[in-house]
Amino acid sequence: MLLGTQKINSRNHLEIGGCDTADLAAQFGTPLYVMDEQSIRERCRTFKQAFDREYGCSNIAYASKAFIVTAMCALVDQEGLWLDVASAGELYTAKCAGFPMDRIVFHGNYKTADELEMAVELGVKYVVADSFMELELLSAIAEDAGKTQEIMLRCNPGVDPHTHRLIRTGQEDSKFGFNIKNGTAMKAVKQALDCRGIKLSGVHCHVGSQLFDLTPFTEAAPVMIEFIKQIKDETGAPIEVLDLGGGLGVRYLEEHNPPSIDEFAKTVSEAIITACAASDIEKPGLMLEPGRSIAGEAGTTLYTIGAPKEVNIPEEPGVKTYLPVDGGLSDNPRPALYDALYSAILANRAGDAPTKAYTVSGKHCETDMLIPNVLLPEAKTGDLLAVQTTGAYNHAMASNYNRFTRPAVVFVADGKADLVARRETLEDIVKCDVLPERFKGSQTKA
Ligand SMILES: Cc1ncc(COP(=O)(O)O)c(C=O)c1O
Repeated sequence: MLLGTQKINSRNHLEIGGCDTADLAAQFGTPLYVMDEQSIRERCRTFKQAFDREYGCSNIAYASKAFIVTAMCALVDQEGLWLDVASAGELYTAKCAGFPMDRIVFHGNYKTADELEMAVELGVKYVVADSFMELELLSAIAEDAGKTQEIMLRCNPGVDPHTHRLIRTGQEDSKFGFNIKNGTAMKAVKQALDCRGIKLSGVHCHVGSQLFDLTPFTEAAPVMIEFIKQIKDETGAPIEVLDLGGGLGVRYLEEHNPPSIDEFAKTVSEAIITACAASDIEKPGLMLEPGRSIAGEAGTTLYTIGAPKEVNIPEEPGVKTYLPVDGGLSDNPRPALYDALYSAILANRAGDAPTKAYTVSGKHCETDMLIPNVLLPEAKTGDLLAVQTTGAYNHAMASNYNRFTRPAVVFVADGKADLVARRETLEDIVKCDVLPERFKGSQTKA
């Protein structure tokens, strides 16, 4: 499968954004995250246009947890989207990129006092409150600062999204949100309305991630709309914004067929509009927070292949061939975390027919299986492997496990490649280490 601007060029190489991947690997080294800028921009625009057409009065906030560097924040700003951040680090990155604070939504099930102070001081538009303690703390912080902080309440609509257990969030048993059905959310509304320094502007839910079935959204929408009506009836407070979070799935494998953004916008908008009519309320402003569906398919990771290793497995017929690559768990923990599956292309012989099954393994001291089974042309040491759909939750989740240096990230467009995150160096690896005086010198102590 070829995604976004990917194509096979006259050198039989995989090309992305008009850049030959073999040239990118030679210039920037591997592993390398390659982000297809046009694909990201098109998805930002499609989200905006689709929701404007189907719903009107909507704001799309890119969920930066999927992939964030300062250049991504700047791109999102250029496209006129909002930004969802979920930590001081993400907020700081947005600040460094000059992202307008009045288009930022600040999330997290446990925000520290320092994070709340930072959010208030910088003037983020909405803090999405997720506990009674946070309401108290935020109220005090905003009052001390002489400000009124707009908030949304993270609600739990009690909807099971039927996705991997680690990316399910909207079901009853969840650490996130105030439960609507058991009355906790209404208690939180009343507390928020009583708090000085806080203005309750919206309600929020996020049911889960990598969803192909839109039913969880159409189930959550009426629950949230009914809750907005209940708030109005019980307290008189108008809720201006409904934020339905992110969650739209993307294509990792050829056989994956996620709903299009247009389909998603139509289905979600209709569900909300229908629910508003049934509850006899005016439709609120709408916010969405797509992450994976903006960045996921735009990313490709390039690896250099090591020495293929054939292994005879007694219980299985034939031979298994391990294909080691120069990265793995530290640049992509998703296979280990979620049993996530990926597609791959032999980038330097991209048009050759696939003839052999490989198990792509990383080079970490774990099983570190990147792809359990992928068909490729016969691969040799030094070939280039392009693992697709690595734009979301890869660079963002990367670690220094085994003291690996995190790979560089390039944005490619119109035949040009721009470095947006440099590769870490060995010096970076030890830059936070502190060697106390008594450990200096190298005498062995008996
Ligand atoms: C509150 C919230 N919004 C948005 C997202 C983005 O989800 P996705 O990347 O599936 O679109 C998440 C993901 O965890 C989230 O927790």
